[in-house]
Amino acid sequence: MSGDGSVLHTTAVIKEAVQTLRDGGLVAFPTETVYGLGADAKNPEAIKQIFTVKGRPSNHPLIVHLAAPDKFDEAQVDWVPVLAPWVRDLSEDALKLIQAFWPGPLTLVFKKDKSVLNELTGGQDTVAIRAPAHPIAQELLRRFKGGVVAPSANRFGKVSPTSAADVRSEFEDILDLMILDGGDCEVGIESTIIDLSSGDHPILLRPGLITPGEIFSKTGIKVYLPSELGSIKQNSDTPRVSGSLRAHYAPTTSLRMYAPGRVLDALSEFPDIKSRVAVAVWDSDSSLGEDGHPSVHFEEVIVPSDSATFASRLYRSLRDLDQQGWDLILYPEPPAGEEWDGVRDRLQRACFGSGPSSSSHDKS
Ligand code: TXA
Ligand code: MG
Repeated sequence: MSGDGSVLHTTAVIKEAVQTLRDGGLVAFPTETVYGLGADAKNPEAIKQIFTVKGRPSNHPLIVHLAAPDKFDEAQVDWVPVLAPWVRDLSEDALKLIQAFWPGPLTLVFKKDKSVLNELTGGQDTVAIRAPAHPIAQELLRRFKGGVVAPSANRFGKVSPTSAADVRSEFEDILDLMILDGGDCEVGIESTIIDLSSGDHPILLRPGLITPGEIFSKTGIKVYLPSELGSIKQNSDTPRVSGSLRAHYAPTTSLRMYAPGRVLDALSEFPDIKSRVAVAVWDSDSSLGEDGHPSVHFEEVIVPSDSATFASRLYRSLRDLDQQGWDLILYPEPPAGEEWDGVRDRLQRACFGSGPSSSSHDKS
C-alpha cells in the first residue's frame, strides 16, 4: 500500500470497522480482487441488510471471508481449525488447494456445517469460503475474529468496484456507509470459484486469475469445467452463482466485442450510430488503421495485451468509459487460452447486460 494514493489505515479505523461489524452494520473493504460489502456471517439481520442494499435476490449465496491463521512458520500453517466451524468435511484435495492458494483469489465451495446460516447460503447445503490476501482485509478479519460475508460492493448486476471511490459512487445514497480505502485492487476481477462439494470432481464455477492449468501444475488436482461434466451432474434451477446469469457486470452504455479486424461488423447492429464510438485496441496493435469507417468517428482506447494486466484494469476502464457519454463501446475479443477465460466471461456478460435499461436484454 504505497505510492498510488491509497490510504494506510490506522489501527483505530480498523477497530471502528470491527465494532461496526459487531454492531450488525456493513463495512466495505478492499480485497485483492474487488471491493467487498461486508457483514457478520453469524448475524442474520446484517446479512439481510446486504441483500437489501445490493438489491440482490435472497437465494443468491454469499462468500464467507476468513482470516489466515498466524504463520510463524510457513510450512505449518494449519487451516483445519479455521475451517472446522464452517465446513462439514475437509478433503485432502481441499487442503492441498488451500495450502497452495490461500490467502488469495480462490473461493472454495464445501458442504456446510449445520451452524452456517441459511440466510447466507441461499438455503443451500453448501458454503463458499475464501481467505483474501489484501492486508487490510486480513487485518479486519483477524481483529473481527469471525467470518465476514462479502459480495462485491456494487448494486446487483452492475460492474464490481475496484477502488474505494467506485464503492462510494455505487452507494451514494448510503451516506454513513463505512468504506476502508486500500487503493486499487490488483487482480481486478472476482475470485476463481471451485466447487468441492460434490465429492470426486472439483468443478470450476467461475473463472478468474487462478486457472485450472495453474491449479494442476501446483497441486496435481484436475479441475473440471461444467461442460465436461454435463452428463454426470444435473443442473438445478437454483442460481448457485449469481455471476452466472447471462447479464452481469453491465455498463449502461452499449458494449460489444469485435473479432480481430472486424470493427465494422460489430457496428452493423447499430446503424444509427455515427459518432461517439470508443474502440478498445490492444497495446500490441499499432491502431485500427484502415479498419475505420468513413462516416463513423472512432476514438481509440488502448488496452493491455497481457491478460493479468487487462483484468486488473477491466472494470476501471468499463466504469470510466461508461461515464464518458459514448454511444457505443467496442472491445476486442480476448484471444483463446485459459488465462483469458476470466476476462472473456466478464466481458461477455457485460456485453449482454449493457445498454440503456429500456433495452430488451434481461438484466435481472
Ligand atoms: O473476489 C470475490 O470473490 C469477491 C470479493 C469481495 O471477495 N466477492 C464476490 O462475491 O465476488 P459475489 O457475492 O459478488 O459473488 C460470489 C459468488 C456468487 O456468484 C455466488 O452465487 C457464489 O459466489 N456462491 C456463493 N456461495 C455459493 C455456494 N454455496 N455454491 C455455489 N456458489 C456460491
Ligand atoms: Mg458480484
